[in-house]
Amino acid sequence: MLKKNTVQKRMNIYNKVIKKITPTKKDLDNEKKIVEQIKEKIQKIEGEHSHIEWCGSSARNTHLKGDRDIDLFLMFDEKMSDQQLEKEGLKIGKHIFRGKKWEKAYSQHPYIRGNLNGFDIEIVPSYIVKNGSNKKSAVDRTPFHNKYLLKNLKTSQKKEVRLLKQFLKGIGAYGADLKNCSLPGYGVELLILYYKNFDNFLKNACNWKKQEIIKFNNKKTKVKFDNSLIIIDPVDSNRNVASALSTQQFEKMILATQIFQKNPNIKFFFPKKIKLWKKEKVKKMLEKKELIAIYAKFPTKELSDLVWGQLRRFLKKISNHLKEKDFLVLRETLWSDEKEIFFILQVENLILQKSKKIIGPKAIDSENVKRFLENKKKLISGPRIENERVIIEIEREENKADKIIKKFIKNNKKTERKAIKKMLRKTIVIGEKELLEKYKGKFAEFFSKYLEGKEMFQ
Ligand code: CTP
Ligand code: MG
Repeated sequence: MLKKNTVQKRMNIYNKVIKKITPTKKDLDNEKKIVEQIKEKIQKIEGEHSHIEWCGSSARNTHLKGDRDIDLFLMFDEKMSDQQLEKEGLKIGKHIFRGKKWEKAYSQHPYIRGNLNGFDIEIVPSYIVKNGSNKKSAVDRTPFHNKYLLKNLKTSQKKEVRLLKQFLKGIGAYGADLKNCSLPGYGVELLILYYKNFDNFLKNACNWKKQEIIKFNNKKTKVKFDNSLIIIDPVDSNRNVASALSTQQFEKMILATQIFQKNPNIKFFFPKKIKLWKKEKVKKMLEKKELIAIYAKFPTKELSDLVWGQLRRFLKKISNHLKEKDFLVLRETLWSDEKEIFFILQVENLILQKSKKIIGPKAIDSENVKRFLENKKKLISGPRIENERVIIEIEREENKADKIIKKFIKNNKKTERKAIKKMLRKTIVIGEKELLEKYKGKFAEFFSKYLEGKEMFQ
């Protein structure tokens, strides 16, 4: 009886969610209309292009309501040179948006992205190749993704795709930008293709193991990826569609499916907005923790995906450096709205003793004791014997986390990779007082969530 109730409860939730996330007929008609208009316009332009292919989720009717993105692929003969493809692509893109808002965007090739009738439209130049693994540029696979899904995904599965997209969006694990370490829309569609529907996805994903493999036609493919989730691209077996999904995000997906099945709730799909913490409450919480933050400005002239990768690497480097210097790092986080950047580290003690105790070999092991005591110049206590071992205390060069981080940044200014090198020149270390001063706007929203410290679906 109880089981039946949960099934019913789940179905009710699904129905409610589907109503909210399905584009209306009018939405779909408007999309079609604008694509037709662009196609007509492009046919009239003289140039080297062949035709337009509508790709991405809007072409397959698997997008979420309110998603105003339309991906149009401008197809060129594969014999054309990269330079010419780029030139022709930009020329036609600019022509389409003449008199409207547009900008140059960057993927493997630069392309034009603009706005028409409220839609964000990308005109991406791409080569006509024989199959996805024969690509000349990374985007050449996309038309094959489109064909594959149009052929294999059933109409009844489109709502299942939307459900899973919204579920992952709710728990914060959906999206193609590298900053989210999430699963791109195409990966979501493949999961539904594989598991047939959302309910069956839940049943399986809650038992996923590390390095879970999802394969389609390429059953014999040797898997050479070491990501937590491996979805072999059915149009190119050399690619893992889930390569950007971090282990933490993968684990969150599993946890969410487990909890949702036990206790279904619409808040998995539409999490309640977290209440902003009052400054006073933040201050009280900061008295209970030792936090240190590094504050910087987001580099504007670099590819944002590249910057995100470098920032994440840099956070890991700082955290490892602190650990090497004997600090116990309890939590490390990076936040940015692509304007400001905060690296936040919670450390057991921000100031260590000036004296560092080193436990040496057994006192009886004279050979090793001799070696151990050589070159230990800054002895401030010892050697003595404790519990059969030789103990010494030496003086730490530096015992304050903020000073150590400052020095680390200074040393890395010269050697860091290009994307964040310049940024490091103006990067500063801030303590709790300055963190409180900067507690406003989007950062305050994030920081409230951070201090709350729990998954949003719980
Ligand atoms: N694509 C891909 N891998 C990514 C991002 C994009 O292969 N990491 C390709 C896919 O073919 C995808 C297309 O580019 O269909 C468009 O990308 P995007 O808009 O990010 O995804 P959609 O499939 O349109 O899904 P969504 O509903 O999330 O927009
Ligand atoms: Mg899209």
